[in-house]
Amino acid sequence: MARQSVDLVIHNAGQLCTLPAHDGGPQRGRALGDLGLIAGGAVAVHEGRIVAVGPGADVRAAYRGATEIDAQGRLVTPGLVDPHTHLIWAGDRADEFERRVAGATYQEIMAAGGGINRTVRATRQASLDALVRAGRARLDVMLAHGTTTVEAKTGYGLETETELRMLEALACLDAQHAVEVVPTFLGAHVVPPEYAGRADAYVDLVTGAMIPAVQAWRARAWPDTLFCDVFCEVGAFDLAQTRRILEAAAEAGMALKVHADEFENLGGVALGVELGAVSVDHIVETSEAEIAAVGRSGTVAVALPPTPFGLAQPKYTPARKFLEAGAALAIATDCNPGTAWCENMQLVMALATRYLGLTQGQALAASTVNAAFAVGRGDRVGSLEAGKQADLLVWAVDDYRQLGYRFGVNLVAQVVKRGRVVWDRAAEAGGGTT
Ligand code: NIG
Ligand code: FE
Repeated sequence: MARQSVDLVIHNAGQLCTLPAHDGGPQRGRALGDLGLIAGGAVAVHEGRIVAVGPGADVRAAYRGATEIDAQGRLVTPGLVDPHTHLIWAGDRADEFERRVAGATYQEIMAAGGGINRTVRATRQASLDALVRAGRARLDVMLAHGTTTVEAKTGYGLETETELRMLEALACLDAQHAVEVVPTFLGAHVVPPEYAGRADAYVDLVTGAMIPAVQAWRARAWPDTLFCDVFCEVGAFDLAQTRRILEAAAEAGMALKVHADEFENLGGVALGVELGAVSVDHIVETSEAEIAAVGRSGTVAVALPPTPFGLAQPKYTPARKFLEAGAALAIATDCNPGTAWCENMQLVMALATRYLGLTQGQALAASTVNAAFAVGRGDRVGSLEAGKQADLLVWAVDDYRQLGYRFGVNLVAQVVKRGRVVWDRAAEAGGGTT
């Protein structure tokens, strides 16, 4: 029988990890870490989608690629999905980090007018072009480290005009860059200085003016899912304010996320589950009852180990408890200029193995299939299955157990997005070693 011609065949993968979805959903609880490993596997790709995955002999007997990539016995996985970032901002806060190293806390700096509001001042002054450039530079780093889909939040505008400019920047980046961007409106990141002491009035602005403006933007410019997130925390928004905003966003047809329990437990996780949030994120101080509730729900638990690491704090998400409760767990960078300026999901895996108690295979599943479900894209990306987008990585190592074990260097060899090679370490000057 004649072989079918397709755009691309990747063959000779020593380990092809497909990271399958389970019943069309994430890998839940103790089932986390189902690698779907095929030794000597191959993938056939046509028009940006996977048409076949399986043992190399079977795939190659059926398909001939216009381009053929020999993975040379190395590891092949889905592209990494980073389900929680604050991708675009202007300026930096290196001086605040210096103060933190000397003993000041993140909350002290925030209360003194630094922190998020410092970045808000810089971001309000940045043009659309400047924001796109800043975002593009970070996406370039993410792509080189294997991230092919990223969630990205607004939240450094905190006024309608700048929040919309941030959304516009995210839409531009999604259109221009190989990394796919999933936008989230985070108008309720903190209370901006002009509303100091008047948080409820700011919540009125978010629900009464910003959400309708965001809806109008969406109708014009963003046909896909748009998320709304709130920073539910002491010094940011309390539980009642968080509820008002999330309910208004849900009413406007947005999907929900919550920053909850990063420093203190205000009940944000229970609220997120009640409102059917797609994810609850940070989840360091989450109660046993709330962990159980997440386990019974469709809400994905997103742990952000670079945040406690970035803050040099000893407490991380009790990930194993979430797994015992049957929850779907994902991991993310939280890339932001305050707590965790980290673009690299490989470092997140390294931290997750050590501080969340995940095996390398679990960390990989939490960075791919489950992360895709945490951003509502599990039907399209995150696993190597027929019909899904051909987003995949050829690694410079031959065993998935090298991931997380080795850290501080880039272990990716090639990145394929929608069936095209978009990053290749061999093409990079002085591309590093393994
Ligand atoms: O996820 N928690 C709120 N937002 C970020 C920090 C943002 C910043 O400090 O600029 C976080 O840690
Ligand atoms: Fe965050």
